[in-house]
This record gives sequence, structure tokens and C-alpha cells, in this order.
Amino acid sequence: VAAAIEGFRHELDRDPEGTLLEHQAPREAAVYEAAAAYTGGASDELALTDSTTMGLGLLYRGLKLSPGDEILTSTQDFYSTHESLRLRGGAVRKIQLYRRPESASTDEIVSAVARAITSKTRVLALTWVHSSTGVRLPIVEIAKAIPDRVLFCVDGVHGFGNQDVDVARLGCDFLVSGCHKWLFGPRGTGLIWGRRSAWARTSATIPSFDGRAILRWLDPLGPVPVPPGQAMTPGGFHSFEHRWALAAAFGFNKAVGRARIAERTRSLATQLKAGLAELKNVTLHTPRSPDLSAGLVCFEIAGLDPRDAVDRLKQQRILASVTPYATSYVRFGPSIVNTPAEVETALRAIRALK
Ligand SMILES: Cc1ncc(COP(=O)(O)O)c(C=O)c1O
Repeated sequence: VAAAIEGFRHELDRDPEGTLLEHQAPREAAVYEAAAAYTGGASDELALTDSTTMGLGLLYRGLKLSPGDEILTSTQDFYSTHESLRLRGGAVRKIQLYRRPESASTDEIVSAVARAITSKTRVLALTWVHSSTGVRLPIVEIAKAIPDRVLFCVDGVHGFGNQDVDVARLGCDFLVSGCHKWLFGPRGTGLIWGRRSAWARTSATIPSFDGRAILRWLDPLGPVPVPPGQAMTPGGFHSFEHRWALAAAFGFNKAVGRARIAERTRSLATQLKAGLAELKNVTLHTPRSPDLSAGLVCFEIAGLDPRDAVDRLKQQRILASVTPYATSYVRFGPSIVNTPAEVETALRAIRALK
């Protein structure tokens, strides 16, 4: 991916206009095709964005709702969802999906959602894997439990790239993700996948630079339909070297194998959780079950502020983060760049923290 970015950057620096004229359309088409293959969707159901946050902002801002319609979300969602909904305005209700993350169950979560849906609810805005706790929501089961009229929108960033599923078959109507996290794609890339029938319920905010959109501007009567995903993809001059290199990230993922990536992430997270659960100074908050978690692992260390813990781990070249929520935890994200031996090293370091 890094080599692809470098190669494209070099070409653009040498001849920006020539490179765009010759390569922009086919390279972007290759990105849509690779993303379609990975998501299990069609390329015209996909919009390209710069990040999860941009995708959520565009999607929620563009929703076509009537006065009185309500959006349902949870108190456990991330800033990017809450703030996108606040900025769009209108009625938003937040519910708690589970009381304690470590003992959350599919039943508890699905019934909390089902109970909260009213005749006014038109949109359900949730997050696949909670970056606050590591809980992975049972999206398939939630989708089955809600009425068809409710548009189910999911921030998928912490499952995208580490789960072995076609996100287009999860049951939600929209899935939004950045591609720089678990997919190890270029910084500044992301996407929105939307079910074909769902796209009609939202509209674009930023003008698309798709050739068909520009033709329509030149000749409004010309019958040139712009596919919904491409109409939603923000136009303007982008960091094209990053966008085009996204095809290499999907290619890398395919070469390693989606099932192998998911299995490796699952086994490292399981090893880490098992080790943490044995430590007397640690309270593990992420569910032990892989059915309700993914790669994120969140915990507390007795008597130690999460920021101090993360700083002290960093001094030992062990990278953790502090969850950016009102109640914050220490968080690890073991992934395919890690080994079981590194997990053991991290566990030893945490055991020694006081
Ligand atoms: C659940 C969740 N959604 C969205 C984001 C933001 O992603 P991006 O940087 O791709 O906008 C994060 C974290 O950074 C996150 O944890």
C-alpha cells in the first residue's frame, strides 16, 4: 500500500493533468470494484469518502425525514455518530443497549433495541464494534428484530477489515467505515455501502465529480443517471494517490485471506482477554465471547489512570490507547501485524504496572 501511494504520488507530481486525464477514471473504477468485491455489494452502491466521520456526516445530514420522524441511537455510540446526528437536527433519542459490557448478551441488546422502536422511529443509528468497550453488536439479529420502515445505519469501522463477513449481507441498510484502521488502507480513505433501495432515502451534500454528474450539469435534460454511490462521493481535488492505493489495500487483504485475518484477530484477542482476566490488578470490560467482540480489548488497571498506564506501556514500546469517552479505559487492538509472543509481552508489562 505504501509503495502504491509513493508510485501514484510520483506520477501526480511529475504530470498532474496528464495523470488525471489518463488514469483517474480507470483507477477509481478499480477501487470501486475492489471495494464491491470485499463488501459483497455492487460498485454503484458504494460511495468513497475520506473517513468514517465524513461518511457518517454525509449520510445522516442527507437523510430525508419528515417532521416528527425520530432517529434512535445509543448512549454507547461514538462522538462521530452523536455529533453527526446533532448537526442534522431533529428528534434523536439515545438508549442504553447493555448495562455491563463484560456480561452483555445478544438477547439483552436486541430486546433493548426492539423495545425502544416506536411508530415514529425512522432511523436506527448504531455502531458495529464499540470503541468504548469492545462490544460487537449482533447486527444480523438486530436487523431481523426491527420493522422494514426503520433505516438501519451502522458505523462499521472497528469490524471492517477484521471480520469474515460480506457487510452487504449483515442486514443493515447502510454501513460506513474508514479504511485506514483494520484494513490497513491509506490514511484519508473510507466508504459508505448502502443497499440499493436505501439510497433513495438520503441525498448528497457535496457535489460529485463523477463524469455523469458533470454531464448532467452541462445538459440537465441529457439522460445521464448518476449511480447513487457515485452521486454521494464528494468531488473536488483529492489526495488521489491515497484513494487509488485503496485498491492495493483490498488486494493485500484478499491475498492474506479474509478468513485468516478474522481468525488471527480473534485468536490474539482471545489470548489477550484470557491473560488479562487472570491478572489481579485488571478488570476486563470487553466480553470474553468472540460472538460479542472483535479485535478491541478494553480494561482498567486498579489504582492507575488509563493515560498513565498507556504512557508507561509506550515507554516499553507497547502501543495501547485511552478510550475517548466519559468513562475511559485502556484499550488494545491486536491485529495481523501482531504475534502471540507480543501479546505475552504486553501481558507481562501490564502485570508489572502498579
Ligand atoms: C466507533 C468509531 N467511529 C468512528 C471513528 C472515527 O473514524 P475516522 O477517523 O475514520 O473518522 C472512531 C475512532 O476514531 C471510532 O472509534
